[in-house]
Amino acid sequence: MLQQIQQTGREAALAAGALLRQNFTRPQQVRLKGRHDPVTESDFQSQHLIIQTLSKNFPDYHFLAEETGTPENRGSSDGCWIIDPLDGTVNFSHHFPMFAVSIAFQWQGEVVYGVVYDPMREELFEAVRGQGAWLNRHPIKVSRVNDLDRALVATGFPYSVIEGLDITIRRFSRMVAQAQGVRRPGSAALDLCYVAAGRFDGFWEEALKPWDTAAGVLIVQAAGGQISTFDGAGFDLNSKNIVASNVLLHDQILAVLRI
Ligand code: IPD
Ligand code: CA
Ligand code: CA
Repeated sequence: MLQQIQQTGREAALAAGALLRQNFTRPQQVRLKGRHDPVTESDFQSQHLIIQTLSKNFPDYHFLAEETGTPENRGSSDGCWIIDPLDGTVNFSHHFPMFAVSIAFQWQGEVVYGVVYDPMREELFEAVRGQGAWLNRHPIKVSRVNDLDRALVATGFPYSVIEGLDITIRRFSRMVAQAQGVRRPGSAALDLCYVAAGRFDGFWEEALKPWDTAAGVLIVQAAGGQISTFDGAGFDLNSKNIVASNVLLHDQILAVLRI
């Protein structure tokens, strides 16, 4: 069954990515969900295409998709797809080519498959629980950097950043002082995949949603990385914050974030 899940998830991610690539240079009709939180027609078109593709093959599984917001229950199955149809909408709406489609499949509450597709670079990150993580079907592994002074790390800021701005910026400035480099690319799903592929050595962010992290977290873990909350506790999809690392740097990152 997992093989069919993988085939269908991949098919949906590639199709939605192609749609986003086509729409990328076109003018975007942007609507605001919050003061800084945009949504475009492409978010909805991508979500529609993904759900159509997935439900054609698996009509009984539930959906948790960002632009619907609440879980869509179909039948009494144990399977659920978790979908971010466009992760990096601010980038996309400004024609900044850093965004992705993220799809995860959860079975009995556990994510067992994840795919993140960057259509501009045609990079497909995937993981199957217990089997491994791949970039365009080649196995990937986290980096071996063990000193924060030589680490490239990434973060992001939630749309609600204004609510805890002071502490968020304090953490950010402590990391800027410690790490070799800090990046804020604008797609949490890709940030996680870049940790998995050894491009980033660590990543942290607050207030992400299940659809931002479901696929990327599995991809990091399957590539040998570590995931926790800021205080080092186990992460679940509803956790308030997340740290991802190559394991070797995990404690050093937690120490910087501890305020
Ligand atoms: C956002 C991106 C961004 C992160 C935000 C997310 P969206 O997702 O992942 O990198 O900093 O917190 O909400 O809204 O573009 O799907
Ligand atoms: Ca997102
Ligand atoms: Ca999104």
